Amino acid sequence: MDKKWWKESVVYQIYPRSFKDSNGDGIGDLQGIISKLDYLKMLGVHVVWLCPVYQSPNDDNGYDISNYQSIMDDFGTLSDWEELLDGLHTRGMKLIMDLVVNHSSDEHAWFAESRKSADNPYRDYYIWRPGQNGLEPNDWGSFFSGPAWEYDEQTREYFLHLFSKKQPDLNWDHPQLRREIYDMMTWWLDKGIDGFRMDVINLISKVPELPGVAQESSSVRPAYHFGGKYFVNGPHVHEYLQEMNREVLSKYDIMTVGEAIGVTPEEASLYVAEDRNELNMVFHFELMEVDSGPGGKWDVRPWKLADIKSIISKWQTALHGKGWNSLYLNNHDQPRMLSRFGDDINYPKESAKMLATLLHTLQGTPYIYQGEEIGMTNVKFGSISDYKDIEILNMYKEYLADGHSEESIMNSIYIKGRDNGRTPMQWSAELQAGFTTGTPWLAVNPNYRDINVEQALKDPDSIFHYYKKLIELRGQHEIIVYGSYMILAEDHEQVYAYLRRLGEEQLLVVLNFFGKPTSFMLPAGIDFQEQKLLISNYDVDPLTEIISMELRPYEARVYLLKHA
Ligand code: NOJ
Repeated sequence: MDKKWWKESVVYQIYPRSFKDSNGDGIGDLQGIISKLDYLKMLGVHVVWLCPVYQSPNDDNGYDISNYQSIMDDFGTLSDWEELLDGLHTRGMKLIMDLVVNHSSDEHAWFAESRKSADNPYRDYYIWRPGQNGLEPNDWGSFFSGPAWEYDEQTREYFLHLFSKKQPDLNWDHPQLRREIYDMMTWWLDKGIDGFRMDVINLISKVPELPGVAQESSSVRPAYHFGGKYFVNGPHVHEYLQEMNREVLSKYDIMTVGEAIGVTPEEASLYVAEDRNELNMVFHFELMEVDSGPGGKWDVRPWKLADIKSIISKWQTALHGKGWNSLYLNNHDQPRMLSRFGDDINYPKESAKMLATLLHTLQGTPYIYQGEEIGMTNVKFGSISDYKDIEILNMYKEYLADGHSEESIMNSIYIKGRDNGRTPMQWSAELQAGFTTGTPWLAVNPNYRDINVEQALKDPDSIFHYYKKLIELRGQHEIIVYGSYMILAEDHEQVYAYLRRLGEEQLLVVLNFFGKPTSFMLPAGIDFQEQKLLISNYDVDPLTEIISMELRPYEARVYLLKHA
């Protein structure tokens, strides 16, 4: 397997709006991030992924970009951004930028032109179609509720938007549009950035006929449907990514990670196989869907350990030696890992550390989402008016209209809503968690008095210090990065255990996933003469026999096993 800096790196994701406000307007900004670079260095991360900081009317918090080459006023200026890049590079860290090119904002100059007339030179930068019998061109639904089409009076046609109606989809089949995007990417790369995280990149190519999903001849359209089979891994996506790689990416020593909705490991290989020259990694969603029922994200079900094990094992095995995994347990679109997979009430420290152990000891590049390293949790705001996320607000209206009870809707927001991950970073026990001197754009989680960075830095046993140690270990032991993966005792109901192997070394990871004690027997056939305890979230006598282990609630242990 080829060694690469991005395989050996740990990435830290920043959601700028919620990270640190420097000027008291209640919105995080670039100077705020700059003021925390030493904190990131102390944690030991190698790369920062910055969620979008470009000019945007913020219908979807920056994922609706109106100018790809300028910085959002709320966040600062291009010179602040240059200072940030420089500050990272001086400290030996790297920066990857979010690339959001499946869609732009409807306030982008391209769209302003495109909507003017059917023969405007920018018309085909977007996807326009006439209506059908007075209805949308097809029955596709948007990811943010309602139809994926919006009617535009000016030219009496509809434009496609897979996300909000302020996020019109770009038409990747248009060569000139692709050229503009490549030039824009080159412009950022020439400023010295170290790569891109590519937003919903596997949706950029649509089946040109845009067929409906359940379309009947009837003019009454009963519902909107997920049109994924016509745009997930669409017909030209690999051709376009190979072109992008040839024209842009291959000219720089950078890392790329594509967000890839609904991909299987086999499909993912087509994006990340090293000989295909597309991307380095993708973010898949299988683990994030482990607690969703057939009704999708808001149809909440309890997750099963057996599913978590089988999903992770499948990806670890399928990409081994072919491509590279990205590892994440939460991000700005997901609930907090600790509330979702751990126990944020009875065992916050133990379970956060157990999950962190999983994140850092698999094959792949770990991505830490801001606040995860101090055990930030989900939030329960009393009223829907406290929420800001467009996905939540649209769903709330749609579900109410469909007859769901307010209580059940709020309950699913508490479990799955994206604002769980977007409450301001908790820096201290001061007012507003030390995030801002003003009024935060989204309320802080009331638990900030107990859970905050200041507190975490003081406590040698904190989740923060455990993350720091995990990151150090990854740097010291190649096996953690490059070793192969084998699941152990697959049927154990409470324990997730696996063995990594590289050369003569073996790494044993044992994780009790629940708040009940349990025991674990090492399966026969694992040969070693020496054991070294690398890390645990409990006090463990390093010499305790490991053939049979008694594990406390959420106990995690990592051993290096060697032949004498
Ligand atoms: C995925 C992003 O992570 C999410 O925040 C955004 O709403 C959609 N893509 C649309 O850009």
